[in-house]
Amino acid sequence: MPALYERDLAAVASVLHLRFYPLATTSGSGPWLVEEGGRRLLDLTAAFGAAGLGYAHPAVAAAVTKAAGEMAGVSALMGATPETVGFAEELLALLPGGTDRRVYIGHAGTDANTAAIRAARAATGRSRVLTFGGSYHGGLGESQGVSGVYVSGGLRPEPGLAQVPYPYPYRPHAFVDSLLADVLGRVDAELSTGDVAMVMVEPVTNDGGVIVPPDGFLAGLRERCDRHGTLLCADEVKVGLGRTGTLHAFEADGVVPDVLTLGKTLGGGLPLSAAVLPAEVDAAAEGQILLTTIGNAVCTAAGRAVLSTIVTEQLWTRAAVLGERFLAGLRAVAERHPLVGDVRGRGLTIGVELVTDRATKAPATLETALTVFRAFELGVLVDYVGPDSNVIELTPPLVLTEEEVDLAVQVLDAALGDVESGQVPEDAIARYRGW
Ligand SMILES: Cc1ncc(COP(=O)(O)O)c(C=O)c1O
Repeated sequence: MPALYERDLAAVASVLHLRFYPLATTSGSGPWLVEEGGRRLLDLTAAFGAAGLGYAHPAVAAAVTKAAGEMAGVSALMGATPETVGFAEELLALLPGGTDRRVYIGHAGTDANTAAIRAARAATGRSRVLTFGGSYHGGLGESQGVSGVYVSGGLRPEPGLAQVPYPYPYRPHAFVDSLLADVLGRVDAELSTGDVAMVMVEPVTNDGGVIVPPDGFLAGLRERCDRHGTLLCADEVKVGLGRTGTLHAFEADGVVPDVLTLGKTLGGGLPLSAAVLPAEVDAAAEGQILLTTIGNAVCTAAGRAVLSTIVTEQLWTRAAVLGERFLAGLRAVAERHPLVGDVRGRGLTIGVELVTDRATKAPATLETALTVFRAFELGVLVDYVGPDSNVIELTPPLVLTEEEVDLAVQVLDAALGDVESGQVPEDAIARYRGW
């Protein structure tokens, strides 16, 4: 185990651990991290998506250095700075439709979603929120209390929380139609009570197992929200800003949500998130979230550099192309490995589901943790998600090259082979709790 990792264990609280292997790195560049000792690791997690532009992106580094040197202000609570206002204006310009909107600027996806929930409750006078099974919206407060993964794990839900299964379409087509109708029917039943303030949905749900819903899901939600006077919030904290092959993930279904939340990629590695709210919804919740350093000039400068890089380089197009290459490569790998039950994704959010039996899809939970560990040993970082912890999750930086995609596929192929042939001992993962 690296010395730096040992020091981490002795000094950093485990309350923040989400560890899959002993990762200890001293620098990074693009999709690569460098370990203590110099070994290079190809990071296909992008730190759960937070390094969406890769590490040490030159535009982010320059913007942050300049803003830190000028430090026009450190709290949007007290007043305006050019960076804060510019960030909000530039983000608003990227949203379709002429709606009058305002940007809550936050530190993490968690507080952006909490802002959305509080504002929706205040604006509608309704208390309930509807979310989906397997969803992840945050690790604290209201956002945690509406998250399917926590609620199914025993956490006390937000009062009145309505939960409906996320449509899981990996079945024959006829079933998908009835599945979608069933899910939307349940949504209808909940919304018709008239007390649901907002539906919060991930356009692709990652932590629940990297599930791409059937076409028409978001459009169906849009129609029902309109009918029942309920706000629709797209939580694009993980999959927004180009990852799915369009600038906004909601574009895939041709709808526009009332509320959009963003994070991770948005900060270029710094803590930055956003909840874009209709102006009248925002106005109902004035002063309801007060975190002192929100909107500081350094993080918002990083956000402006991220937005301009994504738009200038049209990185969503790159994500679409690389995603197809990844899926094709991984599907070829799947043919060689009985462990692989499914390969799925949209753009650069990809899941590889491991099973002990392809017919029953029985989850290969242990083998998944071993494969992720072995990939780390072979120089590639991935993690795993899903209710049975059996889906290898790939959310690489959008700046990956074709050659890096091919290298990653080769390494995952080798890691799967090593696990299938029993070369990775179980005790290798004993210290890593994972997801
Ligand atoms: C869809 C989604 N929403 C919200 C969050 C919470 O973001 P953060 O961890 O930055 O608070 C996450 C984090 O994984 C997420 O995947």
